[in-house]
Amino acid sequence: MENKKIHSFNERRSSALNGGGLSQIEKQHSRGKLTARERIEKLLDPGSFVETGMYVTHHATGFGMENQHPYTDGVVTGWGKIDNRLVYIFAQDFTILGGSLGEAHGRKIAYLMDLAYQNGAPIIGLNDSGGARIQEGVASLDAYGEIFFRNTRASGVIPQISIILGPTAGGSVYSPGINDFIFMVEKTSNMFITGPEVIKAVTHEEIDFESLGGSSVHSEKSGVAHFSADNEEVAFLQVRELLSYLPQNNLSSPPIIHSSDDPKRQLPEINNLIPDDPQIPYEIRDVISLIADDGNFFEVQSDYAQNIVIGFSRLNGKSVGFVANQPNHLAGVLDINASDKAARFIRFCDAFHIPLITLVDTPGFLPGSDQEHNGIIRHGAKLIYAYAEATVPKIALILRKAYGGAYIVMSSKQLKCDYNLAWPQAEIAVMGPEGAVKIIFRKDIQESPNPKKSAEEKTRLFREEFANPYQAASRGSVDDVILPEQTRQRIIEVLESLHEKRQETPARKHGNIPL
Ligand code: HXC
Repeated sequence: MENKKIHSFNERRSSALNGGGLSQIEKQHSRGKLTARERIEKLLDPGSFVETGMYVTHHATGFGMENQHPYTDGVVTGWGKIDNRLVYIFAQDFTILGGSLGEAHGRKIAYLMDLAYQNGAPIIGLNDSGGARIQEGVASLDAYGEIFFRNTRASGVIPQISIILGPTAGGSVYSPGINDFIFMVEKTSNMFITGPEVIKAVTHEEIDFESLGGSSVHSEKSGVAHFSADNEEVAFLQVRELLSYLPQNNLSSPPIIHSSDDPKRQLPEINNLIPDDPQIPYEIRDVISLIADDGNFFEVQSDYAQNIVIGFSRLNGKSVGFVANQPNHLAGVLDINASDKAARFIRFCDAFHIPLITLVDTPGFLPGSDQEHNGIIRHGAKLIYAYAEATVPKIALILRKAYGGAYIVMSSKQLKCDYNLAWPQAEIAVMGPEGAVKIIFRKDIQESPNPKKSAEEKTRLFREEFANPYQAASRGSVDDVILPEQTRQRIIEVLESLHEKRQETPARKHGNIPL
């Protein structure tokens, strides 16, 4: 080949590989951020990346756009491998036009989404963008529409993951918003619909980027983010770990990763974890770790609605999703945020063939006008809906308290849980003994010469009568009462029997989950 052509090839390629140029790359590094290509390199298996559309440029004119045509148009797209499994990936390049999304940039992402959808592999978006490219006007807005449509179409078909690695402003937030999981990085990433300057102009509120939409805000307060990491490399490790629990798509099964952990392992330590007094809390994560293969529990949304704990583990090598009330936080009550958090996780697991293990220890729904006025009826209903709708294998274990609505909601037999277990110390009743005796024995207590003693005695009797698992077991609502140390062995036994579970769902366009 002529030298001139090789020279031109080399020049173009090097220009494409250099993004926005050395000074922009230095600026990016000085902010503690990697470049788009460095990120892809670190996240994927070495040498596995295959790029699409490297030489794409925008064709916009006006506002000086005609003078700059950077290759990639500010987004590096392609596919590669994670743990030798195919993934599709795009990384916005903040060094080019602030990673803003114009028509060509959007078209590249949409094309990649089509490939991921057709080939049944997860798609991972690395977001670092100023949002809709202002110079391209409506073409840029339209490009977002194309992406949102594809996100929705792919929902429940392939896992969709967003990693937020810089500003993610305006239209850029809604593709992650539809995705299954959002990862953020402390201090360098933020997400907001309108930035601090617009907020100040419109409402006079003064707020900085971090307080408005930083990683801790979205991990603790809004619940938008599922994972938060100290730096980009930790976020990439988290993404790789998450994918190890997931199937490639809705038609395949999650990978089975066997360990040497004996499926029949007994858990004598568990008795030291659970206090005899039902009023004393304990850490449910310790219980999950004891049950799980090698103690591994990959928690999702660990800092949000901490009264419920959700996440992935393996049992005898197979992926499962744990949903567990957390007695260590607000006594494990169910409230609006906990209901939303758990319902979405249940639906994800159901869409991707991941069996659900529910650990129940909750005094019930949180009372109060705040919860009522903010729609606990609507939000709690999501949890019921999600459990009832899920057709994956479902196993539930009542550890201690399962009172009232919470007993029904938390994967009860009547919501078509496949197997319901309880420990001997389980308490299943319409409400807790103290509240119950005040209602049904109010007159007796008031008229007694020693009301306090009478209330205590009645509470004790109520507890003996109702606060145990045997009434529920006698009705078949609990399949078996087991000793705590048998928990891992018994759950695995049941899980194995459900491996080929098939359950028909009614023909309909879709249900109408309360939102
Ligand atoms: C075009 C943009 C841009 C954008 C940033 N740039 N955002 N170019 N369109 N939306 C360019 C800047 O002009 C600059 O170019 C370069 O990117 C880096 O930006 P800086 O401002 O210098 O960087 P920084 O100080 O780090 O601030 C980053 C930022 C800020 C916070 C993202 O740029 C910003 O506030 N941008 C606008 C964010 C926003 O409001 N987006 C919403 C758009 S509306 P030079 O050439 O100087 O290097 C939207 C609606 C869609 O998205 C709705 C769909 C539902």
